[in-house]
Amino acid sequence: MALLGNKKEKTYDTGDLKVPVSLGVIMDGNGRWATNRHLPRSAGHKVGAENLKELCRNCVRYGVKYLTVYAFSTENWARPQPEVDFLMKLFVELFDKYDEELAEEGIRVRFTGDDSELPKKVRDVCKTAEERSKNRPNMQLIVALNYGGRREILNSCRQIAEKVKAGEIEPSDITEKMLSDNMYLPDVPDPELIIRPSGEMRLSNFLLWESAYSEFWVSDTLWPDFGYEDLTQAFRDFASRDRRFGGLSKKESKT
Ligand code: IPE
Ligand code: IPE
Ligand code: MG
Repeated sequence: MALLGNKKEKTYDTGDLKVPVSLGVIMDGNGRWATNRHLPRSAGHKVGAENLKELCRNCVRYGVKYLTVYAFSTENWARPQPEVDFLMKLFVELFDKYDEELAEEGIRVRFTGDDSELPKKVRDVCKTAEERSKNRPNMQLIVALNYGGRREILNSCRQIAEKVKAGEIEPSDITEKMLSDNMYLPDVPDPELIIRPSGEMRLSNFLLWESAYSEFWVSDTLWPDFGYEDLTQAFRDFASRDRRFGGLSKKESKT
């Protein structure tokens, strides 16, 4: 199968780039993409969903190990019901339809978020996709579905509160690590870089706890048009970021 349409133009030379081990992408701008073309918003969601495959391929080839994509937030239920229904149907179709290509790329699929509010059909598809892909070695694709950063933190706090109630720990025993360990996917490293297409400069409740020291990269490209060039530019810019983590830059700390 021809995995890359125009393979010649794409090199995955990481010479002047820095490729994050863990990357977050807020897949935003589907609606505007469709509206710009006088199409219904659903058309934008469809093309946006297709574009996820392209992002996965490019990330695998660059060597990203964990790719977390924001697909549906805990706030997105506020959209008109037909749009929500369309998105749920898309999620049901997507992971079966993509499985062959994801398998070829060695991509393991996982989900993060509050699945209790998702339709059973969606939950079932997610479970199957996770199960059949669990031994794939190249990259983890983590799909944030009915995900909210605040909800995740709340959930972590509740689990810890249960331990306090049971007398297993004292409130003073609670640590940051304990909160981290009770997030949805504690084994997934915090994203070093978060990309948001479509120009909005906000997190919209994505990975609040995990993004404490993430670098942000925003592009005006709308998600359905976001491709290899944008990703490569993001990794190029990421290489020149001075990540100080509250300390001093490497150069300064030597003087
Ligand atoms: C992102 O695109 C997809 C979801 C939130 C599900 P939008 O639908 O938010 O697109 P815009 O922001 O309206 O252009
Ligand atoms: C964030 O986009 C959620 C997803 C991309 C799934 P939104 O379009 O929902 O964010 P806001 O409403 O512009 O903050
Ligand atoms: Mg949006």
